[in-house]
Amino acid sequence: MDFKGKVVLITGASSGIGACCALNFAKLSAKLALVGRNEKKLKEIIDHCENESGDKPLKIIADISIEDDNKRIITETINFFGKIDVLINNAGMLLMAGLMDDITNYDRISATNIRGTYLLTQQAVPHLIKTKGNIVIVSSILSSVPMPALMPYCMTKAALDMFTKCVALEMAPKGVRVNSVNPGPVATNLFMAAGISDDLNKGLYESMKESIPLRKIATVEDIANMVVFLASDSASCITGSFHVVDSGLHLGDPIIHV
Ligand SMILES: NC(=O)c1ccc[n+]([C@@H]2O[C@H](COP(=O)([O-])OP(=O)(O)OC[C@H]3O[C@@H](n4cnc5c(N)ncnc54)[C@H](OP(=O)(O)O)[C@@H]3O)[C@@H](O)[C@H]2O)c1
Repeated sequence: MDFKGKVVLITGASSGIGACCALNFAKLSAKLALVGRNEKKLKEIIDHCENESGDKPLKIIADISIEDDNKRIITETINFFGKIDVLINNAGMLLMAGLMDDITNYDRISATNIRGTYLLTQQAVPHLIKTKGNIVIVSSILSSVPMPALMPYCMTKAALDMFTKCVALEMAPKGVRVNSVNPGPVATNLFMAAGISDDLNKGLYESMKESIPLRKIATVEDIANMVVFLASDSASCITGSFHVVDSGLHLGDPIIHV
């Protein structure tokens, strides 16, 4: 697998899954445009990528919940590289909220997870049509497994799965593929960015392990491997599909144990 000469744009590259994707694409010689809000963390990842490939990625500080920032992400990438081959829509947030919590939780999370992804994809698509490129969306297993304590988050990921299918169908005649990766739990900064303490975060992942059939939590590397595969020519016949990486969590409890 090789991304020599390909321009890969990754959102949420300053942390967790996005940062690991950036490093893996750098190892495969891609030219990278990396988006995040935290400049210090993004710079660290950029330095890592440069050490891997010898190429310095383009740094874009932007918030995908802001419409003008999405336009700027694409303008800066095109001004610098002249094209886009792959868009990785990975940036996302989580918050703990259920039905009876304030509706502003829903507004805030939708603005990033759904509207931000929608807007950036709109801006990127004309360029992806020119290169017959592709899009990978980082969704979640919670798009189909209900978790009431994270209801707005689950809803945003369900919306992204339908977005994947609709955009894939619209773009197929133009040669652009669109797929999603649906991770189960992965130990990243996601819960801590939602205000959960480090200790509670660790306990949460440990307890989840007990209900996962393979009894193991996927790593950022496990998710990045799937993202890179879908973005590569090895996946040239795959579009509009969801790729679950969750150690079997979506299978649920067998109820009758043998
Ligand atoms: N970790 C899990 O268990 C898990 C499971 C399933 C799906 N996912 C999905 O995986 C994706 C990556 O999350 P992660 O686990 O790697 O979490 P993370 O370590 O918290 O990383 C989230 C990334 O998204 C960026 N981001 C968040 N809101 C943004 C915004 N409005 N504009 C621009 N960038 C924004 C953050 O940027 P800054 O830090 O620079 O602000 C950060 O780079 C998310 O879509 C998440 O829903 C995660």
